[in-house]
Amino acid sequence: MMAAEGRKVWMDGRLVDFADAKVHVLAHTLHYGVGVFEGIRAYPTEDGTAVFRLPDHVRRLVTSAHLYHMPLAWDEAAISKAIVETVAANGIVPAYVRPLVYRGEPALGVKNSQGKVSLAIASIPARKYLGEGSDKGVRAKISPFRKPRSDAMPSYAKACGNYLASYLAGLDAQHDGYDEGILLDANGYLAEGTGENLFVVRGGTVYTPGLESDILLGITRDSVMRIATDLGFSVVPKLVSVNELLTADEAFFSGTYAELAPLREVGQHKIGGETPGPITRAIMAVFAKATVGADPRYAGWLTPVPGMRPVAAAPPRAARR
Ligand SMILES: Cc1ncc(COP(=O)(O)O)c(C=O)c1O
Repeated sequence: MMAAEGRKVWMDGRLVDFADAKVHVLAHTLHYGVGVFEGIRAYPTEDGTAVFRLPDHVRRLVTSAHLYHMPLAWDEAAISKAIVETVAANGIVPAYVRPLVYRGEPALGVKNSQGKVSLAIASIPARKYLGEGSDKGVRAKISPFRKPRSDAMPSYAKACGNYLASYLAGLDAQHDGYDEGILLDANGYLAEGTGENLFVVRGGTVYTPGLESDILLGITRDSVMRIATDLGFSVVPKLVSVNELLTADEAFFSGTYAELAPLREVGQHKIGGETPGPITRAIMAVFAKATVGADPRYAGWLTPVPGMRPVAAAPPRAARR
């Protein structure tokens, strides 16, 4: 139920009431899945609310729109400004911010590259995608549904239609009693979760599937790679097999919605020893500090939201346990 999720939605330059943020039922995007979006988090820091890795998310949104022939009326600076404005107008923190680029006018016929391209931005309460228990370990299932190849659905773009496979994989996992599904690529290597990238730790090295497995290049994935490297671990993007996951010392998901979530079991296989394992725990602790501005090395990842009353920094999750 989304009725009270936010106060205002930014639509093509105007902040409208949440209940009035509507599009036509014959909108092109609704019928053919041709839209692109982002998922972004705003966190409480000691200096007030801040958006995590805002320029990177905006750049990916603009790249996704370009790939799908959706010319935007706003440049990256204007989109960033609109996102900050929307977060401030809603006053919610921690917030999950959802910018969506879509064709909202009535237009049937799939080959539509004309007409208005719209941008909407919502800022709603942030939740844990994989549930509140996800810090202690997620149970995942290898999905029968595979990640579409990039020569059919380019994984460079965070496009609405890409989520049809995620949807099927997610519901299949849920039906079988798991928290999450893991999609393989067309060749049977690991790709990603329904809304997360995947990391596998073996012998002290951190591995993650790369673009050749048709993954979305996650911004959290990039943050994890940087943090793990700074912690002194070797980080290797590569083709990762299912057997490498099943026999891993540790494994975890990364994503804006899920943040970092260790994997406890995959199918019938327990992953490693304690969950989270020591390397996952170390990365999670730094990541949690980075998001709330408590680690100066990553201060550049935070964009302040002026106009929102400063709130006390939440302690990093690792410190709360
Ligand atoms: C399919 C998929 N993979 C990976 C990710 C992680 O990307 P990010 O860390 O940029 O949120 C997401 C979430 O956006 C996703 O939907």
